Amino acid sequence: MERRIFAAAAGAAALSAAQSNDEKLTTAVIGVGGRGSGLLAGILTQPNVAIGALCDIKPDRLDRAATAAGRDNPKTYSDWRAVIDRKDITSVYIATPPHLHADMAVAALEASKHVYCEKPVGVTPAQVKAVVAAARRSNKVFTAGQQLRSMKLLRDAVAEIQGGAIGDILMVKAQRHATSDHPKDNSSADWYFDVDKSGGYLIEQSVHNLDLCNWAIGAAPRRACGFGATRLHKNEPPGRSIFDCGSMVFDYANGVQLTFTQNVFHARQLPAGGQYVHVFGSKAALDLMYGVTAYPLGGKDAGPPVTLAEKGPDDPHAHTAAFFACVRGQGPNPADITVGATAALTSILGHRAMVEERVVTWTELGVTL
Ligand SMILES: NC(=O)c1ccc[n+]([C@@H]2O[C@H](COP(=O)([O-])OP(=O)(O)OC[C@H]3O[C@@H](n4cnc5c(N)ncnc54)[C@H](O)[C@@H]3O)[C@@H](O)[C@H]2O)c1
Repeated sequence: MERRIFAAAAGAAALSAAQSNDEKLTTAVIGVGGRGSGLLAGILTQPNVAIGALCDIKPDRLDRAATAAGRDNPKTYSDWRAVIDRKDITSVYIATPPHLHADMAVAALEASKHVYCEKPVGVTPAQVKAVVAAARRSNKVFTAGQQLRSMKLLRDAVAEIQGGAIGDILMVKAQRHATSDHPKDNSSADWYFDVDKSGGYLIEQSVHNLDLCNWAIGAAPRRACGFGATRLHKNEPPGRSIFDCGSMVFDYANGVQLTFTQNVFHARQLPAGGQYVHVFGSKAALDLMYGVTAYPLGGKDAGPPVTLAEKGPDDPHAHTAAFFACVRGQGPNPADITVGATAALTSILGHRAMVEERVVTWTELGVTL
């Protein structure tokens, strides 16, 4: 499985029937809230790509998106199935709340469309399994919104790590700490605090961080344990069913242990906040989240830090550019279904361990990749 997960991206472009750069591609965005609007802005910068349809159940958002995409005069819909029925639309972006991704992605793939699906691929193993099956049956491109995979700096740094630059990976310690809870007056508050819709912080947000950990480690975890709770924001908003903090340990078949913590009450001035991914190797250690500087092991006699990759300007729409390149058969898929499903399942594994307060195994999730 490990080999498939991390080598798969390179070959995935072959899945797509080659479509030349000159061919105009007509795409659609389903869900034009915060993320969908950002994706739309990126799509509009892509050469020879037109927005054929926009879909949202909130009319104000649909209007705003239609204005942004006015150049292409897209048709607007409140029913996503009508978008899937459009034969001229060859790809769809799915940026709705997480619990809706699987049904939409499966329907789009079955209608022979290329799919860019926001993370997480699903919030339950059954949802992830359905998307995996549909993506494997289809000969279309499926790209998950794990856009860290398109950051050149990270790609270069992970390649160096996997090439042995810090020795064998022994242990990883990572966190995603925020200074505040998700805003209660934000329009996405209508799904965010419902664990059945968002999956909770770990599945909805830390899926990025956990994907980065898996990527560096070169594997998926085989089991996890942990504890989570709502410590500060009890019943805020009323009916809240997501945790506001959690601590987990993931155990990998290659012996690596990943310790991961998450909270939404890290005081801004307290050091060591925010996000990091500390990777401890047998020769050196680094923070993969922000840095590409590896620090050799040892005390005063340790050698100087080593720069693993050069920072450069990162294209904010690189993941979208990579998706269309892949659709045209001109580039690898940066986050294919194996990457997307593995990331979602890793966060589901951690979430389930916290909820059930026991060691949960990858096999129990029942999804074969
Ligand atoms: N990759 C990233 O960095 C990133 C960043 C932010 C959000 N996201 C992901 O994007 C997705 C959306 O998050 P958001 O922050 O934009 O939320 P949001 O609430 O701002 O937007 C979701 C939109 O989907 C619409 N919607 C809900 N049900 C629908 C339906 N049945 N048909 C059509 N539209 C429907 C809502 O009306 C809303 O406009 C989530 O999966 C989230 O995890 C990814």
